[in-house]
Amino acid sequence: MKRWNQYDRSTVKSLAAASMSVLLMSACGGSDHSTDQAFAAVPDARLLADGQALFRFDTFGDELHWTDTLRMHEVIRSAVDPTTALAIGLKVDADALPASVTLGIRDGSVDLNSPATTVALLKLNAVVGLQGKVEVVDGKDTLTRVGITFALCHSTVDNSFAPGIGKRLDGWANRDLNAGAIIALSPALSATMKAVYNSWGKGKYDPRFNQDGENGPQVIPPAYGLEGIHSITSTGDGDDVSYWNRYVGITQMGGHGTFVDPRLGIDVTNGTDDRISAKLPALRAYQLSLLPPPPPPGSFDADAAARGQRVFAGVGKCISCHSGAQMTDANSRLHLPSEVASEPEPDGAPSYASRSATKRYRTAPLRGLWQHPPYFHNGTAATAEQVVRTYNDKQALGLTEAEVSDLAQYLKSL
Ligand code: HEC
Repeated sequence: MKRWNQYDRSTVKSLAAASMSVLLMSACGGSDHSTDQAFAAVPDARLLADGQALFRFDTFGDELHWTDTLRMHEVIRSAVDPTTALAIGLKVDADALPASVTLGIRDGSVDLNSPATTVALLKLNAVVGLQGKVEVVDGKDTLTRVGITFALCHSTVDNSFAPGIGKRLDGWANRDLNAGAIIALSPALSATMKAVYNSWGKGKYDPRFNQDGENGPQVIPPAYGLEGIHSITSTGDGDDVSYWNRYVGITQMGGHGTFVDPRLGIDVTNGTDDRISAKLPALRAYQLSLLPPPPPPGSFDADAAARGQRVFAGVGKCISCHSGAQMTDANSRLHLPSEVASEPEPDGAPSYASRSATKRYRTAPLRGLWQHPPYFHNGTAATAEQVVRTYNDKQALGLTEAEVSDLAQYLKSL
């Protein structure tokens, strides 16, 4: 079956072209029914293009939170130079930079230690996941509004121009992003709040802290490889990606609209209009089109991985939960905290499941695993090998050293 490819899907043009080629295949009376499947599987190109633009650039009006409440525009324009921004994990979209700027970065004439350069990058719409409004105040370009988009946490770049500067990779969790440290820059927060945010570290975020006041940061998950999976978050709180999009868009980003979940006792309305509901179908289509990236050539030992696959299906018993094409039983059941290898939580944090609607965990899908260490919802396993060792210990699997190492190679091959 023809699938969308992560790497050639980044422009409206290629979306339309891909859709057209499938249409043509179909129109020419494609000889086998895999063609019909391909036709059915390709969503409307316009919807995908809209979804991509929303994913990258739409704030749902969350300037209400990031500007009016947190006053991030003040701190960005006065204290966040590009070097600092890159150090806290913000990424720059090289495709948005005109040649004069790329040349200037290369020859040093663009000052990466000046906050004015950050403002200039925001004006070019080149900072991944941030939307800034730049106006001339007293004859000077000034950042007057700032908001965030899904791409802030769920996109990164390929570093093809320089570390932190390159082509967008949508759906890849930004594991360099120190979201807590960024929020803690806000002049509107108390020292106690800042201390919590600063405790999270890079690649982590607590998507409940502002709802239940508990502190137990989670790894930022990838947003690819979700097609066909009906438990989207690590605890399977929603059965569709739109549940999570609404949750994040309203309660975390601070966009205009309403999120209600009586199971969690959460009922949040921001603003007086709804700037998210109508956008959910396009966002969903785009997210579900994002495929897990294949492992880079040479990044694992193929022979060991083949042996590891047998461990996965055999003595490791992994397949009893990591089953099917996406390697998860998430569509049929969730698991109690007592069944998962990742609890107890580190640093005495309360069980994340206890803070969820289901009180359970979803078996994590495993495709593209190589791309997003550390593993488990709380990041307690730094490497694939550590994941295997954790299972081996906690579930007393009795794997040999060779089996542990082969199984780790298999995980890296997915
Ligand atoms: C009882 C069901 C079950 C079994 C058996 C099981 N897993 Fe898991 N697995 C889960 C659940 C649930 C999670 C999610 C835990 C979390 O979010 O912390 C998970 C998470 C993972 C992750 C982390 C994925 C990520 O995105 O961070 C890896 C890797 C993994 N399992 C590999 C394995 C391997 C290898 C085995 C066999 C040795 C195995 N699992 C056996 C249920 C299971």
